[in-house]
Amino acid sequence: MQDIIQFFDSHAKDWDSYWQEEEFVLMHKILDRSGIQKEDMVLDIACGTGILVPFYLESGIQPSRMQGIDISPKMVEIFSHKFPDIPVLCDDFLSAALPENFFSYAMIFNSFPHFMEPERVFAKVAEILKPKGKLIIAHTKTREALDMHHERSSSVVKSHRLIEDSLFLKYYEKYGFIDIVLDNDFYFYTMGIKK
Ligand SMILES: C[S@@+](CC[C@H](N)C(=O)[O-])C[C@H]1O[C@@H](n2cnc3c(N)ncnc32)[C@H](O)[C@@H]1O
Repeated sequence: MQDIIQFFDSHAKDWDSYWQEEEFVLMHKILDRSGIQKEDMVLDIACGTGILVPFYLESGIQPSRMQGIDISPKMVEIFSHKFPDIPVLCDDFLSAALPENFFSYAMIFNSFPHFMEPERVFAKVAEILKPKGKLIIAHTKTREALDMHHERSSSVVKSHRLIEDSLFLKYYEKYGFIDIVLDNDFYFYTMGIKK
C-alpha cells in the first residue's frame, strides 16, 4: 500500500496537467450517462485532486452533498486547496469510517485497478450506498488501452489491471446490485444500482 501512496504522492503536483481536452469531454459524457441528479449524495472514491468536481458542480450538486476520499496525502492536499468547501478524507477507502446507507452515488473514476482487493470494494460500496444508489466504475480509456498504459509504466502500477467482466458481473450481483451495465466500446464504463 505504501508504494501506491508514494507513487500517487509523487504525481500529485503535476496530476492536473496530464489531462487532454478529449478526456474532459469523456468525463462529461460519463457523468451524463450515469444520470447524476442534483439531489444525489456523491462519494468520489479515489478522488485524486478532484478532477470530477467541476462536473459534479455543473450537474447541480452542492458542495455539501459531495465527499471525496483518497489515500494519497498529496492528492488530498491539492483537492482541499482547489475546493476548500468540499469535504475530503485522506484514508484507505476499505478501512475508512464512512456512514452506512448514506450515499446515493458512488464513483470510482480512473482508479479501480489500483485497488488490490476489488471484491472488498464492492462489499464496502454496498454498505455505504442507500437502496437505489448507484455505483459507477469508469475510465476514459478502453480496457485494452488502459492495460497498455499500465504495462508501459515502469512503476508500481505496471501490474495493475481491471478485473475481467465476468468478475465485475459476479461482484455486482453478489453485493446486491441490479440493472448492471458493462461497456467497453469507446471507454470503459460499468454501473450497478443497489437493490
Ligand atoms: C489514477 S489516480 C485517479 C485519481 C482521480 N480519480 C482522477 O481521475 O484524477 C488513482 C487514485 O487512487 C487512489 N487510491 C488508490 N488506492 C486507494 C485506496 N485504497 N483508497 C483510496 N484511494 C486510493 C490514489 O491515491 C490515486 O489518487
